[in-house]
Amino acid sequence: MYCAVYPEQFGLYVRFAIVMEENIKRAAEIIRKSKHLIALTGAGISVESGIPDFRSSGGLWEKYDPMVYAHIDSFRRSPEMVWEMIFEMVAMTKQAKPNPAHHALAELEKMGLLKAVITQNIDNLHQEAGSVNVIEYHGNAHVLECLRCSAKYSVDEYPNDGTIPKCRSCNEILKPGVVFFGEVIPGDALMESQMLAGSSDAILVVGTSAVVYPASNIPFIAKQNRGSVIEMNLEHTGLTGSITDVFIEGSAGITLPKLVEEVRALLQ
Ligand code: APR
Repeated sequence: MYCAVYPEQFGLYVRFAIVMEENIKRAAEIIRKSKHLIALTGAGISVESGIPDFRSSGGLWEKYDPMVYAHIDSFRRSPEMVWEMIFEMVAMTKQAKPNPAHHALAELEKMGLLKAVITQNIDNLHQEAGSVNVIEYHGNAHVLECLRCSAKYSVDEYPNDGTIPKCRSCNEILKPGVVFFGEVIPGDALMESQMLAGSSDAILVVGTSAVVYPASNIPFIAKQNRGSVIEMNLEHTGLTGSITDVFIEGSAGITLPKLVEEVRALLQ
């Protein structure tokens, strides 16, 4: 089958590849020299594991209005409605496995170059890929908590059969241990992330639109500490035109392993 690749398209592709390689080299040099590299990840890093992100086309918030389905006030008002979305999210994350981007960050930690991953994700894929120092900025979907009596349970204590879980002490409908809009970030995650960003000399920002505060402030804290900001995304974000030093365009599952390969080559 003959597929026409027009010269100008081919030229664009070559230019894209050259720019990506150049930016990966620049980023690798920053990482090689860094003494306190951290990473901030968002839903984009898990898209190649089959979990749609929130704000790209086809993302979760296209189907579920976050202010209706992901706000703590909505959960208090009608938990059954919110659990409908949660069951869909759980089903999507159940089959998901870490992709080469998660493994690349775990590799950087093993090489002693990455101090921590601060993730906005609740899919546990960084831990499954082998990352040890993972800060779950938006909580964890593996925990269930009671808003009435503060009891906490593991999801494994309940059947994953679509039955809405209830508190065993007061029979209240349980909430997943994730941070809803209108809730505060867990104190330990907030403090540790601010401390890490405040002492970092470089930050990898991977697969986040950087529109949700206070997570979106983490790269700015690193920048205020004169840290270099390396952004990896399919598209530009609000960071790109302001504090990003190196923007590596492309799928994280491709660009992150290339970056680690380049760092390894520099260390030889
Ligand atoms: N590789 C790299 N980047 C990607 C990829 C990919 N394969 N696929 C998507 N992206 C990028 C998108 O271009 C987008 O910029 O990932 C980003 C995902 O942005 P969002 O969907 O807004 O997800 P996120 O930034 O994690 O959202 C932050 O918002 O709704 C809340 O709690 C939710 O933690 C979430 C927070």
